[in-house]
Amino acid sequence: MAGYPVNMQVRPEVEGFYDEATATISYIVKDPTSNACAVIDSVMDIDYAAGRITFDHADMLIARIRERGLELQWIIETHAHADHLSAAPYIQQKLGGKIGIGENIRIVQEVFGKIFNEGTEFQRDGSQFDALFKDGDTYMIGNMQAFAMHTPGHTPACMTHVIGDAAFVGDTLFMPDGGSARADFPGGDAGMLYDSIMKVLSLPDEMRLFMCHDYKPGGREVKWETTVAEEKAHNIHVGGGRTREEFIKLRTERDKTLSMPTLIIPSIQVNIRAGRIPRDKDGNEMLKVPINKL
Ligand SMILES: [Fe+2]
Repeated sequence: MAGYPVNMQVRPEVEGFYDEATATISYIVKDPTSNACAVIDSVMDIDYAAGRITFDHADMLIARIRERGLELQWIIETHAHADHLSAAPYIQQKLGGKIGIGENIRIVQEVFGKIFNEGTEFQRDGSQFDALFKDGDTYMIGNMQAFAMHTPGHTPACMTHVIGDAAFVGDTLFMPDGGSARADFPGGDAGMLYDSIMKVLSLPDEMRLFMCHDYKPGGREVKWETTVAEEKAHNIHVGGGRTREEFIKLRTERDKTLSMPTLIIPSIQVNIRAGRIPRDKDGNEMLKVPINKL
């Protein structure tokens, strides 16, 4: 693909870990030629009703990385998730690694900084993260070169991370029978999402695609891996040559029927801080609920 350093000869080892509570898949991606790895889209467990946070899912990833003797170099967020909380800082504290997200997280911080009335102490410059990726930026995981591809539409900061023959699409796409993610959050745009999906589908046909979510449509088993060729042929929202206009109509009508994700209020507050829980003026970990703002 023009402009992006695609290298299908590199085949990272990918392990997915499904989080039943939020239908999220977290990944450990390992360089086959070294012990270096990355974690993509980790999950912190929350019992929102009780205000209780635990780390069972992240502990599972940490245990697996330790058991395999891997060196964690990157903790990647494909975007600021609205449906689960990131465990990036918890994992970083245990294993090291740099936390990275798309540079447009600044836009997301600006928008939600206002909604949550965060005040001036909340930096909206992305400085909570160790790395802010621009479209086409490359980074290394051991001997593998990875690159970030800007794929906005679901949110302005969405990036697809391509590592050898594996692309981590975040919420740009779901499995072919799941279609695509909503585009109605602040800063979302259905037309932009269509263009981003086309960008992903212009990667080589054999590119493995790894989803951030799977809601088991029709009650089937959970799945998280497909290919560009499969999505092009069978995706229920964009496959079989559906036009941009048709997609925008379908996406917009469908989004009108969706309620807010159960965890959007805690997720956004934590994820715009790279996975850190906000604190009140006395230093207690505390979340807010803005009324009639979402
Ligand atoms: Fe999302």
